[in-house]
Amino acid sequence: MFRLDDQTALVTGASQGIGAAIARALADRGARVVLAARSVDKLEALAEEIRSAGGEARSLALDISDPAAATEALGTLGNDWAIDVLVNNAGITRDSLLMRMSLEQWREVIDTNLTGAFAVTKALTRGMMRKRFGRIIFVSSVIGLMGNPGQANYAASKAGLVGFAKSVARELGSRGITSNVIAPGFVETAMTEALDEKVAKDLESQVVLRRLGQVEDIAAAAVFLASREAGYITGEVLNVSGGLYI
Ligand SMILES: NC(=O)c1ccc[n+]([C@@H]2O[C@H](COP(=O)([O-])OP(=O)(O)OC[C@H]3O[C@@H](n4cnc5c(N)ncnc54)[C@H](OP(=O)(O)O)[C@@H]3O)[C@@H](O)[C@H]2O)c1
Repeated sequence: MFRLDDQTALVTGASQGIGAAIARALADRGARVVLAARSVDKLEALAEEIRSAGGEARSLALDISDPAAATEALGTLGNDWAIDVLVNNAGITRDSLLMRMSLEQWREVIDTNLTGAFAVTKALTRGMMRKRFGRIIFVSSVIGLMGNPGQANYAASKAGLVGFAKSVARELGSRGITSNVIAPGFVETAMTEALDEKVAKDLESQVVLRRLGQVEDIAAAAVFLASREAGYITGEVLNVSGGLYI
């Protein structure tokens, strides 16, 4: 079960953290993977690691905060690397309390997390429609469902992804394309290392399973949603938070 042989997947934000773990897990299940992000050196290192383990991988320089450039970069994949599984994982934080949040901090986060996912999804769904098959997975956050002080921009972008994913599910379901959301809780990565200490402690204390999430916890959910076995699930939000949000 949950094999991904003959599938080609693209993971945004695959240069580190959750995205890198998702790419490794998809490759481990037999998918060919396109690793996309801005840090090409890190992508190349991961592609080499996957190839050494017998998988197939390539890197793609992609800045999703520039929709026109991102669309152009995705166009270079051509038919040889037509995408079946898209994981919209890239994301950033620019935390600040609302009273101090600049318009720039607001825009940067919305542009990358929400508009970036829109641009990549729009560019890659045409190919999926032709194949009458596709799996689109959005990495949102429980913060988009519950809110968090200091993260109004981030929460708005992540909540936006939920509405976007559900709309895409309704638009493309008749073409055999599913669209789902993973909402991770508090996962140990560079992103959470940068969290305000008090906010981090507060979130940690609410985790019912009494441990921080690991990148592999999120990758397992992505493998499941990418699989053929998850073909009757669409428009869903899968909360992978150890019970941080119930
Ligand atoms: N860690 C958590 O607890 C947690 C919880 C809930 C949700 N999430 C979500 O999970 C996703 C991954 O988070 P993470 O913790 O793994 O964060 P991370 O370690 O900071 O990684 C973020 C990834 O996004 C990429 N990225 C950022 N801006 C980009 C851009 N403009 N264009 C292309 N790629 C870009 C980065 O690559 P480059 O810098 O190389 O471009 C990097 O690979 C994010 O969407 C995050 O919001 C994380």
